[in-house]
Amino acid sequence: MTQPSDSRSPSSLTLIRPDDWHLHVRDGEALKTVVPHTAAQFGRAVIMPNLRPPVTTAEQAVAYRKRIFSAAPKPFAGQKPFEPLMTLYLTDNLPANEIKRAKDARVVAVKLYPAGATTNSDAGVTDLRKTYKTLEAMQREGLLLLVHGEVTSSEIDLFDREAVFIDTQLIPLRRDFPELKIVFEHITTREAAQYVQSAGNFTAATITAHHLLYNRNAIFSGGIRPHYYCLPVLKREIHREALVAAATSGSPQFFLGTDSAPHAAHLKEHASGCAGCYTAHAAIELYAQAFDAAGAMDKLEGFASLFGPDFYQLPRNESTITLRRESWTPPESYALGDAVLKPLAGGEVLQWRMV
Ligand code: NCD
Ligand code: ZN
Ligand code: ZN
Repeated sequence: MTQPSDSRSPSSLTLIRPDDWHLHVRDGEALKTVVPHTAAQFGRAVIMPNLRPPVTTAEQAVAYRKRIFSAAPKPFAGQKPFEPLMTLYLTDNLPANEIKRAKDARVVAVKLYPAGATTNSDAGVTDLRKTYKTLEAMQREGLLLLVHGEVTSSEIDLFDREAVFIDTQLIPLRRDFPELKIVFEHITTREAAQYVQSAGNFTAATITAHHLLYNRNAIFSGGIRPHYYCLPVLKREIHREALVAAATSGSPQFFLGTDSAPHAAHLKEHASGCAGCYTAHAAIELYAQAFDAAGAMDKLEGFASLFGPDFYQLPRNESTITLRRESWTPPESYALGDAVLKPLAGGEVLQWRMV
């Protein structure tokens, strides 16, 4: 079969090494499995702080960075080592003076989890006004605010929680802190994509590979499929289409964040299964699949490698990676300490492979 070779549907693609702007690696034994997956593809990754207990001080972030760094494979000669970019977890009591210490420790951002919104978020913010002194310090020091954008109240339908968050939380926050850089993480709806486009240069969003590839039918096809369950939950097809349009638009406000979130398989295949999809084993290949399906391979490099560092005001990576159109099948499982980790698309044929 001859392969089309125009720039929107090529048979191979070399791009500046991408970064992952939203990643969970957990701690302890799990690091040995998941950090090498990310380090094989990405130059840097923004590490989420939702450990138990959460990462709330600069000192804890520095110690966590060391543990992650030790789990990354040694780089080849001449190659830069994988760089974990650290974040703090915003609580009602994160003191404003911790922000200066964080900045000095090269922490890049602070993460807002509304209390109870997602995995390990019980220590999250109960009322944004309690955090305003800290947000002022962040705006001053140039630390970004990363947002899990869902309201938590049980009266709001689960599928509407992101859209309601925009109106009730994000719009007032944006107004009160006009120069705070905000990343609306793992957006899942047309409303979120439209909001980000209209919100100006200090607002951006990350988009996961799974929200580009699947709609909510994936969770229920032929029986309940817990490995497709994450938060914010997969939405209708119109929302997936809006996310693909945003990611492939060439707008620098949208960039790559996998939200790869490892959980032991027995805790996902459970009466009350954990939220989170694991994609780090084949992250860039899954994004390539989504961009290729949209005829937009020429837009992948901006989304994966350029717009993230530009928004964070960090240098772009210098090395490159190459993807080839080639069928391959990722493994169905990995060891995760004493448990098993089942990656998304494990045992399924993918069309792109990193060389
Ligand atoms: C994440 C996790 O497991 O830590 N889960 C998820 O479903 N995305 C938390 C998060 O990013 O909300
Ligand atoms: Zn989240
Ligand atoms: Zn996450």
